[in-house]
Amino acid sequence: FLGLAGVAAGGLLLGGCAGVPASQLGTPAPRPLAIPPLAPSARRDGVRTFALTAAPGTSAFHPGVDTPTWGYGLPFGGPTLRATRGERVRVHVTNGLPETTSTHWHGMTLPAEHDGGPHSPIEPGATWSPEWTIEQPAATLWYHPHPHGVTERHVHRGLAGLFLVDDPEGAPGLPHRYGVDDVPVVVTDRTFTADGAFDTRRRSAHGLIGDTLLVNGTLAPYLAVSSSRIRLRLLNASPARCYRFARSDERPMLIVGTDSGLLAAPRAVSAALLTPGERAELLLDLDPGRPVTLRSLPQDLGAVSGTERSIGASDTLDVLQIRPAGVLEPAPPLPEVLPHEPGPDESAATGVRRFTLGNDVINGKSMDMTRIDEVVHAGATEIWELVNVHSRPHNLHVHDARGQVIEAGGRAVPPAQRSWKDTVYVPPRTTVRVLLRFGRHPDPGRPFMYHCHLLYHEDQGMMGQFVVVGDGTDPGSVPRTLAAT
Ligand code: C2O
Ligand code: CU
Repeated sequence: FLGLAGVAAGGLLLGGCAGVPASQLGTPAPRPLAIPPLAPSARRDGVRTFALTAAPGTSAFHPGVDTPTWGYGLPFGGPTLRATRGERVRVHVTNGLPETTSTHWHGMTLPAEHDGGPHSPIEPGATWSPEWTIEQPAATLWYHPHPHGVTERHVHRGLAGLFLVDDPEGAPGLPHRYGVDDVPVVVTDRTFTADGAFDTRRRSAHGLIGDTLLVNGTLAPYLAVSSSRIRLRLLNASPARCYRFARSDERPMLIVGTDSGLLAAPRAVSAALLTPGERAELLLDLDPGRPVTLRSLPQDLGAVSGTERSIGASDTLDVLQIRPAGVLEPAPPLPEVLPHEPGPDESAATGVRRFTLGNDVINGKSMDMTRIDEVVHAGATEIWELVNVHSRPHNLHVHDARGQVIEAGGRAVPPAQRSWKDTVYVPPRTTVRVLLRFGRHPDPGRPFMYHCHLLYHEDQGMMGQFVVVGDGTDPGSVPRTLAAT
């Protein structure tokens, strides 16, 4: 097993990755991939209720070495929340940390007061209890802190978990046994100091880049498998590192879902690029007794080569070793079509908004909690034109909205190749157009965020705010300043 840990311990990674400090601990033996537990819930008065507590803990990523971490009811990470479209949900989030945090439901369409952005701080000892109805199709969503200016630090300590949305009809033909053949794969990167702590002493221009991968909080993980097809729900929960996931045997994978929904049909891909915050659902076909490794391969992020090195894009990293049993359960026939929501129609777009992504600014402006940058009509479909005028990679995540990339780098994306997204990669010096559909909950006094999901960029000010207003409201009449919170 030539795992990532082996590479890191050999120092090869450091050689290819100037500027990134190297972990100083040895190589643990491969161990079983941890599966985040499903969060228990109680159904009362038609509301499915969950409880999460963010608190400090201690993790043993390396045997016998304690690493101080934060988690939601776990030492590191968080349980998987799961609910069905149409259900009403409530989450009691208690802050057991020594400082203010917030909890954002990434990818969820919901009223702004329950979105959990920087305007919903949870003080130490306090409990915040958002409640909303799930109004969107099956998807792999997630949750993480979003406190103003310190999101990178809170996520880096370990706060992040999945929120799976199911359709009432399910997804016939797709593997769906949680943790068995439908497997969460939450990928993050960290560097360890000699005493086992997460190293935060050095940051690249993109933020904290680590040389060691943790998958669901497991270092050097393997997954024992007993069926001939598995579904991996990949989430890039890293502060800044980008991954290009592929099989070590170079066989194609089938992509069946992206950030906010399933595709129209499975599509063969040789690799899947995920920048921070993005998700992909992949099907892997396996042979009995023949291990295969999910890897991250070097990426062409379209940046100058120095930039790519500093974000770790030239690294080859082992993510997860998959160990199929000698005898495998056969997979059901692959569905030709998937239950999915057709994309928005371009002709329904009410306008185009342009956002230039620069050095820690969007449209030349740094984040201001008291400034409303944009006003959007409830339920509107709009084209957002994202222009990266910078030599660094950025992406853009828009709260409350789901959409599809219709053009990238001057090339139209044919409707058959579009997929549902809430976080979109915008390569350096490139323009990407996204057809976005917004939620239907007007609230002119409470903003949603849009921001770069490289968390250090976000913290440095690469974020703006929009409010959703009723159909008949004249955007010109909406106040553009908020009282400071
Ligand atoms: Cu995943 Cu505004 O965040
Ligand atoms: Cu950025």
